[in-house]
Amino acid sequence: MSTNATVRTVLVPAAGLGTRMLPATKAIPKELLTLVDRPIIQYGVEEAVQAGIRRVVLVTNPGNTLTASHFSPAPELEAELLARGKPELLAAVRALTGLAAVTTVHQPEPLGLGHAVLCGRDAVGDAPFAVLLPDDIIDAEPPALRQMLDVFAGCDGPVLLVERVPRDAVDRYGIIAAEPVGDGVFRVTDLVEKPAVADAPSDLAIIGRYVLTPDIFDTLESTERGAGGEIQLTDGLRQLLRIRPIHACALNGTRLDAGNRGGFLKATVHFAAKQPALAADLRDALDSLTQPATGG
Ligand code: G1P
Repeated sequence: MSTNATVRTVLVPAAGLGTRMLPATKAIPKELLTLVDRPIIQYGVEEAVQAGIRRVVLVTNPGNTLTASHFSPAPELEAELLARGKPELLAAVRALTGLAAVTTVHQPEPLGLGHAVLCGRDAVGDAPFAVLLPDDIIDAEPPALRQMLDVFAGCDGPVLLVERVPRDAVDRYGIIAAEPVGDGVFRVTDLVEKPAVADAPSDLAIIGRYVLTPDIFDTLESTERGAGGEIQLTDGLRQLLRIRPIHACALNGTRLDAGNRGGFLKATVHFAAKQPALAADLRDALDSLTQPATGG
């Protein structure tokens, strides 16, 4: 296995219960919640494609066929749009089919992120691959995964994406201990999943993007349950660190956490403001909140 082989596959764990977004996620998988004009999952798949990765493996729970269907052909809808003379909508629907080669593997039980990655083992094969957590939506140029692949090309092991977070938020993330080795690049010396604030080795949090070498799978096979009683990817990487260097690169861009109500709202405002057709409506809506009420 060559660690600097081309990364062709991105694994997208999407089997979470979405409890932080209930009741919206009672019937709809959370990665299909709409952010302005497209579901959350589409932002992640588009990022991967823009980074040159066109093979997408979704890891979903066994009952979920909806998520993959967002990327499969819809002949009846397409015929209807054609008949109604809606070429732009037709193009947008068809573009989703051609975007990437999307397949699905199942995670039978929600046993954690490390377990979700392990479920993708056969689909990924013996080659380096990326992992993208769809809740973490990243607006960056070049795309976050592209930034990481550029670092990966010069490394002999995994690359993680990190961002500094407020000290009191470290217990929500995987946190690395690291020493800087270049402009925005770190060599990881330790990692810990969701440490207590007092125990965190730094404020550098892993944020939803990984480029991994396939030896992570063997490591995850023997990773025991950790934080939250789940098999954690961070713990697997900690084990891998004994035999392989791991690097991290600092995000150059904006990360939006669409996995909770407040973050979802901020992400909505962020992407709406970028669309000329919506920016005026958004400004009107915000202005109406700050203007004193008139009339009696
Ligand atoms: C997961 C990872 C964690 C990482 C985070 C980024 O946690 O386990 O290491 O920092 O994603 O969003 P989760 O948010 O699934 O609890």
